Amino acid sequence: MSAALNDYAIALRMAACHSALKIPQPVVVSQIESSGLPDDRMLVAKDVSPRDFFESLVSLGEIPACVEIEQQGALRVEVSTASGRMRGAVVLVTGAAQGFGRGIAEELVQAGAAVVIADLNEQLGLELADSLNNAAGRTAALFVQTDVTKAASVRDCVNAAVKNFGGIDMLINNAGVLRAGGLDELTERDFDLVTAVNYKACFICTQAVVPVMKQQYALNPEIRGDIIQINSKSGLEGSKRNFAYAGSKFGTIGLTQSFALELIEYGIKVNAICPGNYFDGPLWSDPENGLFVQYLRTGKVPGAKTLEDVRASYMSKIPMGRGCTPQDVARAILYCREQQYETGQAIPVTGGQVMLN
Ligand SMILES: NC(=O)c1ccc[n+]([C@@H]2O[C@H](COP(=O)([O-])OP(=O)(O)OC[C@H]3O[C@@H](n4cnc5c(N)ncnc54)[C@H](O)[C@@H]3O)[C@@H](O)[C@H]2O)c1
Repeated sequence: MSAALNDYAIALRMAACHSALKIPQPVVVSQIESSGLPDDRMLVAKDVSPRDFFESLVSLGEIPACVEIEQQGALRVEVSTASGRMRGAVVLVTGAAQGFGRGIAEELVQAGAAVVIADLNEQLGLELADSLNNAAGRTAALFVQTDVTKAASVRDCVNAAVKNFGGIDMLINNAGVLRAGGLDELTERDFDLVTAVNYKACFICTQAVVPVMKQQYALNPEIRGDIIQINSKSGLEGSKRNFAYAGSKFGTIGLTQSFALELIEYGIKVNAICPGNYFDGPLWSDPENGLFVQYLRTGKVPGAKTLEDVRASYMSKIPMGRGCTPQDVARAILYCREQQYETGQAIPVTGGQVMLN
């Protein structure tokens, strides 16, 4: 297959990240219709493979503001104004329109990353991208409506990420659904939905993102990839009358370990983070369909008469006496990114509720 503009965008960003160039800030590479720049600020590339293009940029010793790839289009290079521990990193977060994913996206943008919000929910996704871009004062977020259970939809999202930011450094498989119920009540349809979103989609998203990370690593081995599954404490121990969810989360730890072994040679680490309950998020606290309302309605907590009784019962199981927050999860993500000697792990973030042995 011949090289596409995306391949040149990746090569350009990898050249800009090359330590030989000593560029003080990371860059954002995006595709544009026409450069509109004077010739002396523009490089024109003809009949050159992405690798040769990369090598000529590194040997040139500088990165132009704009590159025209003949017959394909133009690439704009912008020095990122971001600062922070994730400065310049491009992160694709699935299910980021609300809940943990939203909080993770907010934390990562604050830490200097550019974030692709991949979610089914267009309204919330667009609102979040707007508010992140306004708050950051830079192009920090892009919403791409995506169904993580559909390979074609995920491929489009990955292409949009490369088109707008020039690559992907981290994938956070966060999208998830919960359908609780015992063997006497859970339908096959609900079982299939939970399995598709929580388990199969981790394969679909990883399969779509890995070629980009491999391409980046082949050009510039200084640039490493990270894949992080947002798992659950229910991926570490069984969950009564909640087997579809727990089973999907256990399975994803199997994927994490197996992908980790397969991807080590491409400089990609794969880890899972297993949070405790995010009681203040929509999954638990939604006034119509949240788990607190559902558990009160179905009498899941014996003796509970109010929502507060249900909350207190769950809270009492946590040694640290509070629920998990997106900030707790974001700290674990930063750990996974910065720790260079760990892969295939499942890290509990549960306030002491689950301890590994
Ligand atoms: N909330 C908790 O207490 C808790 C605890 C441990 C782990 N987790 C895990 O954290 C992750 C996020 O959970 P949350 O509570 O924030 O959920 P949430 O329900 O608040 O948000 C989930 C997001 O995923 C999106 N989504 C659902 N199906 C999708 C699909 N097919 N394609 C794309 N997007 C889709 C939704 O639109 C939504 O924006 C999940 O993997 C969940 O299992 C949650």
